[in-house]
Amino acid sequence: MEKTNYFEEIRERTKWFMDARFGMFIHFGLYSAKARGEWQYSYDEETRESFEKDWQKFDPKKFNADEWAEIAADAGCKYAVLTTKHHEGFCLFDSAYTDFKSTNTAAKRDFVREYTEAFRKRGLKVGLYYSLFDWHNPDFDGYKDRYHPRRNDPSSVGGNFDNYLKYLHNQVEELLTNYGKIDILWLDFSYNDMIGEKWKATELVRMIREKQPGIIINSRLEGSGEKYGSITTDHPTYISGDFTCPEMIIPPEGVCTESGCAVPWEACFTMNNTWGYNLMDNYYKTPATLIKKLIGCVSKNGNMILNVAPDGNGSIPKKQREILHKIGEWIDENGESIYGCGKSDFPKPEYGRFTQNGKNLYVHIYEQQVGPVPLVGMKGKVIDAYRLSDGAQLHVSDSWVTKEFPEDEFICYDKDGIKAYTYADDSRVDVIRLRLK
Ligand code: GLC
Repeated sequence: MEKTNYFEEIRERTKWFMDARFGMFIHFGLYSAKARGEWQYSYDEETRESFEKDWQKFDPKKFNADEWAEIAADAGCKYAVLTTKHHEGFCLFDSAYTDFKSTNTAAKRDFVREYTEAFRKRGLKVGLYYSLFDWHNPDFDGYKDRYHPRRNDPSSVGGNFDNYLKYLHNQVEELLTNYGKIDILWLDFSYNDMIGEKWKATELVRMIREKQPGIIINSRLEGSGEKYGSITTDHPTYISGDFTCPEMIIPPEGVCTESGCAVPWEACFTMNNTWGYNLMDNYYKTPATLIKKLIGCVSKNGNMILNVAPDGNGSIPKKQREILHKIGEWIDENGESIYGCGKSDFPKPEYGRFTQNGKNLYVHIYEQQVGPVPLVGMKGKVIDAYRLSDGAQLHVSDSWVTKEFPEDEFICYDKDGIKAYTYADDSRVDVIRLRLK
């Protein structure tokens, strides 16, 4: 099957990204100080007057981008994406096209500048999120998007959508002009007929590529978490973006085109259940779950971007920091099985996941084993086996209990292998590196 040129370009551009595997999403904005998540404005159909009432008081005194960068790096993240403007329309940067921005609040700060500088300095790749829709700009009002807080307000009509598009294009241009090299642009999102050329997408992408030739763009000019767009076909369009972004789900078989080519993808996850800070949402996933989700993404050729929700002071909540730190501890010992790795040539084992990088196959063991760990179909294919966390050499051999399984290899602690050596604690993921012949 003949591919369009874009396919090769996309592969080229996303090389570093698909090796990086783990990123940090940061949802921060006016909604952080409201502390009820970033969608409450829409759910409550709140009026603009009410939602924006105290906007000029916004003053996250503890916002410290260096500290955020440190937390991200400590967790093992290789890149980050910050919401520069979310659906509420408030800008964390000094835009020339609106007054509704952080430099006009008590804070008087350009948070996008602080963030880009700090993360870059810390050696992380820098991404910017920008919401395609905007519940502040009156020119967006008349469009009646189905999530708009004023969707049922008959007086909310009019506005000039073309003017809104100019605004959108101008702001994206500002973001890509005034803040140095930007590695990722994360646009959010399209649905129904609010899609593609409705955003003047071809023009927009042309400008983006001109301003930041190396940048990678997500697929939401054509889609959302609901629909991935042409990036998942053998013929991605000019506006398909470079990677697709499943939301709160790991695609069961990864993401491939009809002809079976791997599509770059990044799953985005919240740690609890909201993207923006929500004081009532304490339903956190455990570090072990999130580690397994990261492994799960990599084992299917994808990335994971994990969200943090700084509070109204600009601090990343303690619980979130603790989770990230635990993930970082695990990555410290086992990162070799994540970075630069992807789907294995062998099918998923029943006790965990495989990832692979060339001739190195990484066995992730999710649960304590009672004896030898089976490597189905690998008889005679393994040179040696080491545990990553402590460099312990393990035996790849059969013992009397495995004689009935001549096609399979087994990882054992002792030579004739019946002792269990895996962690007694099921919340740990043990990783064994196999060198394949
Ligand atoms: C969604 C939501 C949004 C969030 C985003 C992250 O589309 O609208 O609140 O920023 O997904 O993936």
